[in-house]
Amino acid sequence: MRCADLTTLWRALRLWAEQLPYQAVIQPDRISWWGGVQMGPPDPILGVSEAFKRDTSSKKMNLGVGAYRDDHGKPFVLDCVRKAEALIASKQLDKEYLAIGGLGDFTKSCAQLALGADSEVLKSGRNITVQTISGTGSLCIGANFLSRFHSASRDVYLPKPSWGNHTPIFRDAGMQLKAYRYYDPSTCGFDFNGALDDISKMPEKSVIMLHACAHNPTGVDPKPEQWKEIADLVKKRDLLVFFDMAYQGFASGDIDRDAWAVRHFIEQGHKIVLSQSFAKNMGLYGERVGGFTVVCNDAEEAKRVESQLKILIRPMYSNPPMNGARIAATILNTPDLYKIWLEEVHGMANRIIKMREQLAANLKNEGSTLDWQHVIDQIGMFCFTGLKPEQEFSVYMTKDGRISMAGVTSSNVGYLAHGIHAVTK
Ligand SMILES: Cc1ncc(COP(=O)(O)O)c(C=O)c1O
Repeated sequence: MRCADLTTLWRALRLWAEQLPYQAVIQPDRISWWGGVQMGPPDPILGVSEAFKRDTSSKKMNLGVGAYRDDHGKPFVLDCVRKAEALIASKQLDKEYLAIGGLGDFTKSCAQLALGADSEVLKSGRNITVQTISGTGSLCIGANFLSRFHSASRDVYLPKPSWGNHTPIFRDAGMQLKAYRYYDPSTCGFDFNGALDDISKMPEKSVIMLHACAHNPTGVDPKPEQWKEIADLVKKRDLLVFFDMAYQGFASGDIDRDAWAVRHFIEQGHKIVLSQSFAKNMGLYGERVGGFTVVCNDAEEAKRVESQLKILIRPMYSNPPMNGARIAATILNTPDLYKIWLEEVHGMANRIIKMREQLAANLKNEGSTLDWQHVIDQIGMFCFTGLKPEQEFSVYMTKDGRISMAGVTSSNVGYLAHGIHAVTK
């Protein structure tokens, strides 16, 4: 028999075999590739939104997710964003790929926003800033960069508690997670002595994660004097500082004041790495705009680091999306829009501060004799209430008792105070 005949016969046999009835009786799980995949738990924060959606109460409140709402409880698109979008649309720009490190106009102004226009680091060109997929993408690039190049230590110390996503981001990048004391439940404030004590024991060259402002989830930030002591001790221990700045402008309403800690550490000679997000302060949540910065010894080192960041990014997503970066760059580089933005950031932060005061006042009016000063004192989007999750009042919060003050409005603050008082009296 010739070779061609054999091939034809083989094909015919295979076709026939595929029609055989035994195929039909094989159990689906026996032919599945993924039969061994276990059901995972829902995301602790996004799972709250799902439970909220299922609730039919007209009074329900979703205080789980950290997204700003206006005083009617509606998502808020900044006026400067709408104006920037119109300006961009009028230019009929192309949709070519961005560079691996992102849009140059954006990365330059992103670094400037964090480090300050007069920054010596920027003037001497000893930073590299790449555009990232918002804050999460920035942390992910940072964690993988450390995993690849910070060979002196695998240990990353997170504040206790920290943003829930920090742990999987660093763990998946192959780093070892450690923790330092941060929140003191007995005062609902910063455990300054505990933090100093733990930092003083960290092995040299470890990585320490610091939330630049508006600490998530506690809303508790060190005071400038405390930051100064932390910066000195961190230097003494020779630690690598990873700043996560997801809320610049959201803490105080002033972008420079909120960047104070980052700038102070740099002035003190720390060569930090920095993650930035424009989700909250420009309301660009779904646009996914962020930046990752490495402060280097000199411009030559920055070039080498840049080359390796590109090598890291290229197989992950090749290059970042352009729309959000264009919006942010347009706002940061157009004086009129920049001015509107500063006012709007201030407005968002102020509304949250006002809601804190109203919540504390309403709790008092309800007859609560507990001390709610921490509700006023805590900073930024979140308030660590110390409450246990309660379904009874259809108020949805994360399991650790964190509520997003950004979801509190003039019309629901009374109901919230009523619910909190009922479960704490
Ligand atoms: C502390 C902290 N870091 C980073 C992020 C990242 O947010 P995004 O990826 O939406 O920019 C968040 C968001 O909640 C955060 O709270």
